[in-house]
Amino acid sequence: MVPGSNLGLVREKIATARNVVVLTGAGISADSGVPTFRGTDGLWRNFQAEDLATPDAFARNPRLVWEWYNWRRELIATKQPNAAHEAVAELERQYSQFWLITQNVDGLHRTAGSHKLSEIHGNIWKVRCTNCRRVVENHDMPIQILPMCDHCHGLLRPHIVWFGESLADEDLRQCDGALRSCDLCLIIGTSGVMYPAAGFASIAKEAGAFVAEINLNITPHTGLVDVSLQGRAKDVVPLLIGS
Ligand code: APR
Repeated sequence: MVPGSNLGLVREKIATARNVVVLTGAGISADSGVPTFRGTDGLWRNFQAEDLATPDAFARNPRLVWEWYNWRRELIATKQPNAAHEAVAELERQYSQFWLITQNVDGLHRTAGSHKLSEIHGNIWKVRCTNCRRVVENHDMPIQILPMCDHCHGLLRPHIVWFGESLADEDLRQCDGALRSCDLCLIIGTSGVMYPAAGFASIAKEAGAFVAEINLNITPHTGLVDVSLQGRAKDVVPLLIGS
C-alpha cells in the first residue's frame, strides 16, 4: 500500500501545480486488460512484440504482422478505459497548461476524454500507406489482409512507431517543450527502458519539476523521481486528484 505521507505530498503538489505533464505506458492500460509489453501476458503465438513490430518483420512477412495487429485490435476493441485513464482526463480539465504523453497505441486515453496528448508510438486504429504515406483511421474488424490504400493501392501498414524507427519530429518537439515548462510530471505505468520516452523524466527533473512515479514495481525511474508510489494505477491515480 502507498505510504500516506507520499500520497499526501503528491496530492499537495498537484493542488499547487501550474503546468502538468503526464507520461504513461502500458501499465495504465493493464488494469483495463490490455497486455503489457514486458509482462508475462504480452505473448502472441510465442512471438514477442520485438519480433513483429519491426520494419524488417513487415518486409519479410506482412501477413504475419497484420495477423498480429488484427489480434491486438480485436483484443483492444473489447477494453474500456479504467479509473486511471479517467483521472488523467480529469487532470487535463483542471489545468490550462497540461500535456499527456502516452507510449500506448490502444487509444484508451482518447476514449476516456483526453484531448491534449501526444501518442508518441502511434495509434492502433490508424493505418499508413507505405507508398503515398497517407494516414487514415481504420476500425475494420478484422482488417482485410493485406490492406491496400484507397488512394494509390499501396500496401497499408499500422501507423505505429516500430522498434528501430524514429518518433515523429513534431511529437518530439511537442514533448520536449511540455517537459521543459512543467512544474509537475507524473510517470504512470512505464518500465522506463524504451528511449526516448525513458529519458523524459530526466528532462522534467532538469527543468525543476517535481516528478512522481506510479508503478507496480521499481523501475529505472525510481532512483531519479521525487516520490515513487507503488501500486496499481487504477487504485493510486484517482487518489491523487480526489477532492
Ligand atoms: N499499474 C501500474 N503499473 C503497472 C501495472 C498497473 N496495474 N501493471 C504493470 N505496470 C507496470 C510494470 O511494472 C512496468 O513497469 O507498467 C510497466 C509496463 O512496462 P512495459 O510492458 O515495458 O510497457 P511500456 O513501459 O509502456 O513500454 C514502452 O516499449 O515495447 C515498446 O513501444 C512499446 O510503448 C512500448 C514501449
